[in-house]
Amino acid sequence: MLKSIDPTTTQSWKSLQASYEKHHNKTIAQILKEEPKRVEKLTIPFEDEFLVDLSKNRVTQETLELLYKLADECDLIGATKAMYSGEKINCTENRAVLHVALRNVSNTPIYVDGKNVMDDVNAVLAKMESFSKKVINGEWKGYTGKKITDVVNIGIGGSDLGPVMITEALRPYKNHLNMHFVSNVDGTHIVEALKGLNPETTLFLVASKTFTTQETMTNAQTARAWLIDAAKDDKAVALHFVALSTNAKEVEKFGIDTANMFEFWDWVGGRYSSWSAIGLSIVLSIGFDNFKQFLAGGHAMDKHFQNAPIDKNIPTLLALIGIWYNNFCGAETEAILPYDQYMHCFAAYFQQGNMESNGKSVDRNGNKTPYTTGPIIWGEPGTNGQHAFYQLIHQGTKLIPCDFIAPAISHNPVGDHHPKLLSNFFAQTEALAFGKTKAQVEQEFIAAGKTLNEVKSIVPFKVFDGNKPTNSILVKKITPYTLGALVAMYEHKIFTQGVILNIFSFDQWGVELGKQLAGRILPELADDKPVSSHDDSTNNLINQYKKWR
Ligand code: F6P
Repeated sequence: MLKSIDPTTTQSWKSLQASYEKHHNKTIAQILKEEPKRVEKLTIPFEDEFLVDLSKNRVTQETLELLYKLADECDLIGATKAMYSGEKINCTENRAVLHVALRNVSNTPIYVDGKNVMDDVNAVLAKMESFSKKVINGEWKGYTGKKITDVVNIGIGGSDLGPVMITEALRPYKNHLNMHFVSNVDGTHIVEALKGLNPETTLFLVASKTFTTQETMTNAQTARAWLIDAAKDDKAVALHFVALSTNAKEVEKFGIDTANMFEFWDWVGGRYSSWSAIGLSIVLSIGFDNFKQFLAGGHAMDKHFQNAPIDKNIPTLLALIGIWYNNFCGAETEAILPYDQYMHCFAAYFQQGNMESNGKSVDRNGNKTPYTTGPIIWGEPGTNGQHAFYQLIHQGTKLIPCDFIAPAISHNPVGDHHPKLLSNFFAQTEALAFGKTKAQVEQEFIAAGKTLNEVKSIVPFKVFDGNKPTNSILVKKITPYTLGALVAMYEHKIFTQGVILNIFSFDQWGVELGKQLAGRILPELADDKPVSSHDDSTNNLINQYKKWR
């Protein structure tokens, strides 16, 4: 079981506060100068696949040592063992947390309630393999005997964001099937997705852990009606609908034969479910062998997280450095900035991954945390972000630690695009860390033939303070294997932060209240009578909606 340790009561937390007082004026440039082997020590390779350079951080070696102690005092090792061995560390839902079992390609037994879950995991993987092969090679036929050309994944949150992000990131590995994703309950999403699709050749994957999520069930019903309207026979559902779920009862109720159900289990969190049957859209898009590589990459990172010493442990180091900025330096957000257009959904994916996991304010004892918890996660691919929000990162007043991610080898080595992209990747972290001094700005003006008097008023605006922290993640190439490792790396970072912050990272009670209230309001929208059952503001909004609709 996870221990409940208020991190602020540890000796290391107090020392870290003192360390902040002592070192916070030290710049990245100074730290780099003072610690000659810093780049060597803080550039951590992951196999021969990627490296993580942590050297451009406002973290001295002394601070790092204290952060290691903090992890130790908060029993990170014990917590990791508990997770990997199937203990029910998701206490508020009384569930194990075993996404590591889904990608356990070494097939060592993992037990939950005395049962080796690897048997079930392998059986579902085998079913995904044989089904996907049939769909991809055209053996699986629609209600008029035609091959499937289009696949529509209907799901939301973890049942959508992972499949979307991963199929997009691995587009170079795609086959001929056209993939579509519908998540929003806004009818526009399904209407637009179905435009131009042929019901005879379209396969729907209804992806929902609970199979009760309003958005997904509404979209699935609309898709079902669209299919039956064309086929004039509800037997077509068996050929065009499959379910990815833990809830066989609800799947049956919906009218999907449980033979067409790909199962997963309550110990798979929604935002960690791409590795499970929820990944069927990924398998259909890139084929089972590539999906297996994705799992293998995740597994290799699991091993690294389990076994690497703390000063070489990539997820742990990322987590500790994040805690330093979040809890000691006052940063509130973190940006994830992939310099890879295929990874354009990566930040959005970890927005859920991180914010739904660690956006909590009650500790594992049920008390309000007197300290800040999970950061706000955001980001866009480079170089687009450079022309949008980088101004604030460079010259604004907020501290925004950034992760820069880029592949050395492009899938599209056209002309000089890739060196140009990478020159921006390198330049940004350099500019952020070292900035440009007043003297440098003046020197540039003088070199351009201006006098200092002429440019005095403009100089302050051209100065870059620098000292903006970044992690650089340089990947050899984005492959199913490296992507799997990168996803698992962030998952373990989030886990580590949750352990230290003494919160439960694997529930998400914060999404419930809005759902409940929407359930109460929906019947009130059925007629045009004014409502008065809410506060004045909500009543007024609902009544105006009723007048206008
Ligand atoms: O947003 C809440 C949530 O429960 C997420 O955790 C989950 O990924 C999503 O809804 C979808 O849930 P389900 O897969 O049960 O439809």
